[in-house]
Amino acid sequence: MNYEEVMKLALERGFYFPSCEVYSDASAGFWEYGPSGVGLKNKFLELWRRELIRRDGMMEIDGSQIMSKSVFEASGHLGNFADPIIKCTKCNSTFRADRTIAEITNIEIPESADLIEFDNAIKENKIQCPKCKGDFGTTKKFNMMFKVGIGPQEEEAYLRPETCQSIFVDFPRLFKTMRGKLPLGIAQVGKSFRNEIAPRQSLLRLREFYQAEIEVFCNPGRLNEVEKFAEIENTVIRVQTNAEPVSMTCKEALETGTVPNKFVAYYLGILTEFYEKTGIDISKSRFRKLGNKEKAFYAEIAFDFEVETTIGWLELVACNYRADYDLSSHAKMSKEKFEVMDNDEKVLPHVFEISMGIDRSLYTILEHSLKKDEEHERMVLSLKPYLSPIHVGILSLVKKDGLKEKTDEIFLNIKRKFDAFLDHSGAIGRRYRRLDEIGAPFAITVDHQTLEDNTVTIRKRDSMEQSRVDISKIDSILLESVAFP
Ligand code: GLY
Repeated sequence: MNYEEVMKLALERGFYFPSCEVYSDASAGFWEYGPSGVGLKNKFLELWRRELIRRDGMMEIDGSQIMSKSVFEASGHLGNFADPIIKCTKCNSTFRADRTIAEITNIEIPESADLIEFDNAIKENKIQCPKCKGDFGTTKKFNMMFKVGIGPQEEEAYLRPETCQSIFVDFPRLFKTMRGKLPLGIAQVGKSFRNEIAPRQSLLRLREFYQAEIEVFCNPGRLNEVEKFAEIENTVIRVQTNAEPVSMTCKEALETGTVPNKFVAYYLGILTEFYEKTGIDISKSRFRKLGNKEKAFYAEIAFDFEVETTIGWLELVACNYRADYDLSSHAKMSKEKFEVMDNDEKVLPHVFEISMGIDRSLYTILEHSLKKDEEHERMVLSLKPYLSPIHVGILSLVKKDGLKEKTDEIFLNIKRKFDAFLDHSGAIGRRYRRLDEIGAPFAITVDHQTLEDNTVTIRKRDSMEQSRVDISKIDSILLESVAFP
């Protein structure tokens, strides 16, 4: 389904909606998750923990969202984390230079290009303000971090623009106290903040957004000593280094030099396996190798994991080989030691990062899962059952004749084990449709026969197939279907 249909579903079925929407001064770029969105997000993160964190024996931390100025001086964000902007000399409207040029001329200039490249493109193509046709001034850099003042002295600090900085500054303590051993993955889920010039398309470009980041610390001399590589060597990944993405096994990607070493190939493999389990259509994915001008300032090698949607390719994960950029900068700035022992060798670890955008991933899952069933005139959100915000709807056919009480009793027995939704009112067909739209894989209906023989009707979301089962079997049927793979 397309962006508009996903948006309609999101607004009407409690997935997400604009923040502070009752006020006219609400800023763009801030969205809230409703109950269905929170359910989906929590389950997505549980899958992420299973498939990446636990699978690989990583650690997870939970750091501060406000961090000191020194962190971002060292990380380079104060100097480099900026977008090119242009301001109209007539109406003062501000635009992102790269996007405005691309929208008007189709010329793609990477955001990190020299400012003169934007000025030249504006001049050569006679680009004017889209609002008032005024002329633009020269391109400037706009730092995207949100500055905050701490305490009455308003000490300078920043809302983190990426969660990983706490992982880097905490690394020496974690390695020591948690008896770390290279390679060591440290992960964090949380909010990051970027003062985007042009936030847009709901969850796709936010000013406050969720990241799930993994930083794997490794010995740069041992990037091909990866025992676990055997687990994924036959996993097929799609990689784009030139014009078109090519499907290949992780082993082939390594042998052809498409990925630089076993270490990187291993993580691209397990990331693909994870996304396959989210229900995203992996045949529409690619790891796109970024050129020098496209890479973030801290990345030595970068592959973006992108997925095709109705509004184009979306970057869901940035996979960056950051080398020792972060640890050496923090070591220099803080004067602390960041080297660790790897067997008998003292090393400053290198870092490979898997930086996942949660909001965009959830959007993509919704878009790839939402289907129109023309035959039955319904919309169906065919989520993987383990990602569904609601596992099962419990419905009484009618409220009278003791059916309400029997339905309440079944709901009471089920609700602490599964995400269940109780619904007594409305036409049964409409109640099924609502459950289909929030992706509930099952609906259980209590009718007059239930009172006679203790059976209920269980309806499957995708096939609409209905069968009669004994109440005592409900738990095992649900458990088998909604358990994580
Ligand atoms: N940590 C990488 C990013 O936020 O894109």
